[in-house]
Amino acid sequence: MLTSITLNGVSYAFGANTVLNQIDLHIEPGSVVALLGPSGCGKSTLLRLLAGLTEPANGEIHFADRLVAKSGWSLPPQARDIGMVFQDYALWPHMTVAQNVMFPLKMRNVARSERENRVAQALSRVGLSEFAGRKPAGLSGGQQQRVALARAIVAEPRVLLFDEPLSNLDSELRESLCQEMATLLRQLGTTAVYVTHDRREAEILADRIVHLSAGSIAADRLISTSGEYA
Ligand SMILES: Nc1ncnc2c1ncn2[C@@H]1O[C@H](COP(=O)(O)OP(=O)(O)OP(=O)(O)O)[C@@H](O)[C@H]1O
Ligand SMILES: [Mg+2]
Repeated sequence: MLTSITLNGVSYAFGANTVLNQIDLHIEPGSVVALLGPSGCGKSTLLRLLAGLTEPANGEIHFADRLVAKSGWSLPPQARDIGMVFQDYALWPHMTVAQNVMFPLKMRNVARSERENRVAQALSRVGLSEFAGRKPAGLSGGQQQRVALARAIVAEPRVLLFDEPLSNLDSELRESLCQEMATLLRQLGTTAVYVTHDRREAEILADRIVHLSAGSIAADRLISTSGEYA
């Protein structure tokens, strides 16, 4: 099922430092939105609010018609049906690739027989079928990030969240993995929010680019039409 994301008047502060200032944003079901902006503008903070890793000071966040956060209250990440990919991969070093990817299915109590099929399918989608039995330490950075990607999509979450997933990789690899992720996101059709400070990455991956500047939305443009709106 495709899910819209709506933020109404969402603000966030670290002490006296206002990091997000009354953000209003509606993300269409199945679209890929890039959050673009300079370091410190609040991109990761906004993504963490969508993930349920932190709660807003003011405002509300809805996934479709479900309230997931409001001032002082937040539905925890495991109850949100999301998949996340971070800059630093965040794989469990003691688990094999297959065990890492299987983890979200265990959390959701998916039956064992189905788990194995789903893991095999997710690994195949990211081109890692042969690496199922390896530990993360035996993989390159790009391969580790593919594992994180497989783990994010394996349970077919309603929302995918990415925080600069390619910025630890060298430029050639970044380019090719970016193209692959764009293709994968189109195939999956999942609503996705992709944080980056790289305009080119945003243009390859996203249907729409939302520019954040000092905690506010400075510009909002559709990629397919290049037309400014909102
Ligand atoms: N734990 C914290 N305590 C206090 N201030 C913080 C904390 N984390 C972030 N900030 C501040 O909040 C602001 C927004 O940070 P955020 O991490 O959302 O930025 P960002 O856009 O993701 O930047 P980058 O591109 O460098 O990752 C920054 O000014 C930052 O200094
Ligand atoms: Mg950040």
